[in-house]
Amino acid sequence: MTQDELKQAVARAALDYVAPRLDRDSVIGVGTGSTANFFIDYLAEVRNDFDGAVASSEATAERLKQHGIPVYDLNTVSELEFYVDGADETNDRLELIKGGGAALTREKIVAAVAKTFVCIADESKRVDILGAFPLPVEVIPMARSHVGRQIVKLGGDPVYREGVVTDNGNIIIDIHNMDLSRPVDAEERLNQIVGVVTNGLFARRPADVLLLGTADGVRTIK
Ligand code: A5P
Repeated sequence: MTQDELKQAVARAALDYVAPRLDRDSVIGVGTGSTANFFIDYLAEVRNDFDGAVASSEATAERLKQHGIPVYDLNTVSELEFYVDGADETNDRLELIKGGGAALTREKIVAAVAKTFVCIADESKRVDILGAFPLPVEVIPMARSHVGRQIVKLGGDPVYREGVVTDNGNIIIDIHNMDLSRPVDAEERLNQIVGVVTNGLFARRPADVLLLGTADGVRTIK
């Protein structure tokens, strides 16, 4: 199977997981990226069976609207049963690196609100120790150099992601070669740097369910 076919398989599995648990008042959180895009396309098949969605990025909001799915401001939503999103890396504890698409902050906010975070990923994303994928950090633009220096003190190599502006008007610094063997600790330390909006470690709030696409089928890991 190609990587795209694995992404389609996990997106379909996510629909099969959430659809029976939705009712006509349900609002669902939807993530960002190519795997989440497949999920959005499948979600459109059941669009009359739920109320609408909260999007983790402008791109996702646009795709949802193209399918006729109402998009709500998170502040107007009282309850979010599910958040469905991809990841750049996952370990077996369902701790994640996210933000390859620069949407990490809104993704983390929606994930924090949702009762159940369903992560969908092909098997290339599974690792023993997080960190081969450079860790994205969203940064207030005027703090770029300061944050970079603090990252060096924590043992990482910061690389400014040229030409990228987040949906929140900020920049992204990708951290290479940082020891992420204690993900909760690393997540907290990075978030304490003044000027950091948030980082792409989802360790304090890992996924609840991982649907992992493999050549032998979709594995459900909780
Ligand atoms: C977006 O900012 C990311 O967190 C994505 O969820 C992640 O990059 C996965 O993307 P793909 O599904 O395209 O691999």
